[in-house]
Amino acid sequence: MPSTGHDVGAAGEFQDGKPRRFELNGRAVVVVRKGGEFFAMRDGCPHAGASLAAGRVTGMPLPCRPGEEAEYGREGEIISCPWHGWSFDLRNGCSITQPERYRAKSYRVEVRDGRVLVVAA
Ligand code: FES
Repeated sequence: MPSTGHDVGAAGEFQDGKPRRFELNGRAVVVVRKGGEFFAMRDGCPHAGASLAAGRVTGMPLPCRPGEEAEYGREGEIISCPWHGWSFDLRNGCSITQPERYRAKSYRVEVRDGRVLVVAA
C-alpha cells in the first residue's frame, strides 16, 4: 500500500539547493532538492530555533586520514543555520559536528507522478 504524504508541490517548482518552508500539520518543515532527490526536516534549528529555510545549502570537507588533503564533497546535502552557522546533514537531520547530541527530525520524501510528498510530518 502506498504511503500517504503531504503534497508540497510539483518537483519542477523546486530549485536545486534552494530551501523552501512549509507548514504541515502545524509543524514547520524545510524541503530541499538535490537533482532527483528531495530532503525534508523540521524547520527549527536545534540550537536556538532559527528557520533553517533561511540558511545556505552547501557541501562539506570529507573525512580523510591524518596528513591527507581534505576533499570537498556532498554538495547540496548540508544546510547551515543563518543565525550561528551550525550545519546539519539533510539526509538525517544530524548536526555535522555533534551528531550524537543535536538533531532535527528528518522526514522521508517521495516523488509520485511529479508531485513531492513529505511523509509523516
Ligand atoms: S539558532 Fe541555529 S546555530 Fe544558533
